[in-house]
Amino acid sequence: MEQTLLIIKPDAYKRKLVGKIITRIEREGFDIIRIALKSLTEEEAEILYEVHRGKDFFEPLILFMREAPVVALVVEGKDAVGRLREIVGKTNPDEAASDTIRALYGTSTGRNAVHAAESKEAFEMEVRVFFPDFKTTDSTDIFYS
Ligand code: RTP
Ligand code: MG
Repeated sequence: MEQTLLIIKPDAYKRKLVGKIITRIEREGFDIIRIALKSLTEEEAEILYEVHRGKDFFEPLILFMREAPVVALVVEGKDAVGRLREIVGKTNPDEAASDTIRALYGTSTGRNAVHAAESKEAFEMEVRVFFPDFKTTDSTDIFYS
């Protein structure tokens, strides 16, 4: 089993799409093992998107991520990182395959409804923004013991 992070972005939060997106995650068979609603500080938004610092979309992206709260979920499943990225779809909703979350709920490249960690390493860094004491050994098992 592998874990990854999904962030439901402020555009989707404002449009009241949180429930629909979480329903899709459950329908795909992922187990939700952490969930949090959070208003990001500037520093936290910058940690999440540090790799894009200096690009022309960096400042607007940080402002966008602070427009409203985000909902972060740690999800677990087989090949979770890659499979979630597939279900999320390409960055630009117009280019995303039909039935991906971005094709369904995104409205532009900037306002594309969700973020999914792009690697295990990115997950391990991003998860700390929302769940500082999270251990990758934590899993759904803890709920059923
Ligand atoms: P994410 O990190 O949010 O999951 O998205 P991604 O991997 O598909 O795309 P990435 O290249 O990492 O870009 C991060 C986010 O920045 C915004 N963006 N705007 N040209 C633009 O205006 C532009 N390019 C990227 C998007 O919100 C993208 O999701
Ligand atoms: Mg990315």
